[in-house]
Amino acid sequence: MSMRTRLAPALADTHLDGETKVTDRSAAPEGTGSIKVSGVGYGYPGVRTGQRVIDDLEFSVRPGEFVCIVGPSGCGKTTLLKLLSGLIAPEAGSILVNDEAVSGPPENLGFVFQDHGRALLPWRNAVRNVEFSLEAARVPRRRRKDMARDALRRVHLPDVENLYPAQMSGGMQQRLQIARALAATPSVLLMDEPFAALDALTRFALEDALLEVWQELGLTVVFVTHDLDEAIYLADRVIVLRRGPAHVVREVRVDLERPRDQGRTRAEKDFVALRYELFETIRTL
Ligand SMILES: Nc1ncnc2c1ncn2[C@@H]1O[C@H](COP(=O)(O)OP(=O)(O)OP(=O)(O)O)[C@@H](O)[C@H]1O
Ligand SMILES: [Mg+2]
Repeated sequence: MSMRTRLAPALADTHLDGETKVTDRSAAPEGTGSIKVSGVGYGYPGVRTGQRVIDDLEFSVRPGEFVCIVGPSGCGKTTLLKLLSGLIAPEAGSILVNDEAVSGPPENLGFVFQDHGRALLPWRNAVRNVEFSLEAARVPRRRRKDMARDALRRVHLPDVENLYPAQMSGGMQQRLQIARALAATPSVLLMDEPFAALDALTRFALEDALLEVWQELGLTVVFVTHDLDEAIYLADRVIVLRRGPAHVVREVRVDLERPRDQGRTRAEKDFVALRYELFETIRTL
């Protein structure tokens, strides 16, 4: 059974009555939502040969895992997400998503960009923006509106479906972008600093909305951020990249109890110790 068929019913009967339905990830088919990056190298065309942005990059993500990627500006994080999403192809090595080699945008993959202003279609209202990704996924017209509304409810945007992006706050626009990425029931969600431009309270609310959706749907998430606290709060594992060319220098497992809580979790001694460890790693890069 494909992830698409597995998740579609979950989206169809959304429950937002305060009860969190936790998907049994062990029930996921083998390989669903898995990522395997082996010996990947990439250099942008026109840049001197031998000057790869990424070289010999290795890491794997388990189905249903939440992985955050941190690293200095310009080290190749966005480039890595572009490779995972098939927007660009590696020069060396291989990338498997759901055990299949990536050779173009995989159909069961969602992407959330940092710049919601540019990612959304200003001439379409909220529900039509979400429907856009369903059109791309060739979901039949008669099912699109219901699926789009379910995705909007899932990110706690139930009453805005007729608003246009320009009529929404930054936080609402970013929720809309997440709804759009989720609507087509992906098994893998790639997020590139999606909350960086938001104020702290809006960011906290969106982090929690994302964790809720991740747990309910059993998604695999790869989340790029500059914010070490955000990385630790969200992740099962934090991968640290260094530049010149990009490669993994450190992986830190985050075993903090879930569900996490913005106040309590961030005050835990293990959280503070992890932040110190990551900070010390990053500042020597
Ligand atoms: N289209 C492009 N053409 C040529 N070089 C590029 C292109 N896009 C990015 N680069 C270069 O590749 C390197 C990695 O860029 P990338 O955007 O992946 O970094 P990043 O880690 O996402 O940085 P940031 O944290 O600032 O977003 C940088 O040196 C950048 O200048
Ligand atoms: Mg970037």
